[in-house]
Amino acid sequence: MSVSPFIPPQRTLMGPGPSDVSPRILEAMARPTIGHLDPAFVGMMDEMKGLLQYAFQTENELTLPVSAPGSAGMEACFVNLLEPGDKAIVCQNGVFGGRMKENVERCGATPIMVEDAWGKAIDLNKVEEALKANPDAKMLAFVHAETSTGAQSDARALAELAKKYDVLTIMDAVTSLGGTPVLIDEWGIDAVYSGTQKCLSAPPGLSPISFSERAAEVVRKRKHKVQSWFLDLNLVMGYWGGGAKRAYHHTAPINSLYALHEALVVLQEEGLEQAWARHTRMHEALKAGLEAMGLSFVVDEADRLPQLNAVYLPEGVDDAEVRGRLLNEYNLEIGAGLGDLAGKVWRIGLMGYAANGDNIVKCLGALDTVLSELKAPINAGVAVDAAQALIK
Ligand SMILES: Cc1ncc(COP(=O)(O)O)c(C=O)c1O
Repeated sequence: MSVSPFIPPQRTLMGPGPSDVSPRILEAMARPTIGHLDPAFVGMMDEMKGLLQYAFQTENELTLPVSAPGSAGMEACFVNLLEPGDKAIVCQNGVFGGRMKENVERCGATPIMVEDAWGKAIDLNKVEEALKANPDAKMLAFVHAETSTGAQSDARALAELAKKYDVLTIMDAVTSLGGTPVLIDEWGIDAVYSGTQKCLSAPPGLSPISFSERAAEVVRKRKHKVQSWFLDLNLVMGYWGGGAKRAYHHTAPINSLYALHEALVVLQEEGLEQAWARHTRMHEALKAGLEAMGLSFVVDEADRLPQLNAVYLPEGVDDAEVRGRLLNEYNLEIGAGLGDLAGKVWRIGLMGYAANGDNIVKCLGALDTVLSELKAPINAGVAVDAAQALIK
């Protein structure tokens, strides 16, 4: 069999992640690999912690990137904070709350589910009822930004409820970090995990996490060993928190960490508030175009994430055909619906580097052409102008 190097096509990534990675970050990733205990690398790790603390708006000492994707960050939070026999209240309003439930069960703990319809924000009243009914619960776990629908929940209010009933919080910030406010210390979140491939616009494969001192103490005082050797933060901290005494735990994904470092430098250069404002501005422009075309959003305006825009397909349109044409003819990726929303919605991401005016014009222009050619019931030829009026 003859083989040749894999040269990927140049796509524009406007799905639910990964998002476009800028040449600057790809270039950082291609820098020479050095040893993971090299003093130069260790210096970079120390800086990385500060950059992550800024991104999460926290002073938590226990802040680091787990060497695996967002799912591993999720798992790290649950396996470290839960022990067999514990009870956890888990909110589910999309795909990822379901994964949290799986994690709780696999820790030998009992999930108490608080369910809301897909596309809705988490209902605070239901959460309070569950907290009242389960005074022995150890934690409240919720997804801040549900990537499966584009719904944003009120993390500040959820954290306040957790404080009122004295339970720990685990928050999924995979899609929110860098795109919409994530204020770990101000809100009082105990454990948070994110991913690199959404609004940070680094390649996938790392999961920034942060634990409050209270959560770190829970990990230190566990009765049972964490069942995952790799994700046991008591061990991981020997490497990430060891200062000059860093000890080998696993071989860090060195070049991926260069990329994350660069992405966090980019975020700091832009400024968090400015990055959030850019996501909002771009969302307003995309929304103007999609609505001018006649498409409607899945999520109520008040709960909508700027970085994940879920819209219903026009009547009679074949989802896979449209996405296939966008990919093949325009090198443009948008996302399909999941679960009950499969075949009914598109998920258009505006994440990180990809949240820019050119991408919006490209996406709306391509959608307009493809849908018009398929004789879909849309208002043709107006979307790009409607968006452009708002792109500065
Ligand atoms: C909200 C949310 N949580 C968790 C994950 C899992 O992250 P990963 O795919 O990087 O493992 C994702 C991925 O899309 C996500 O959107």
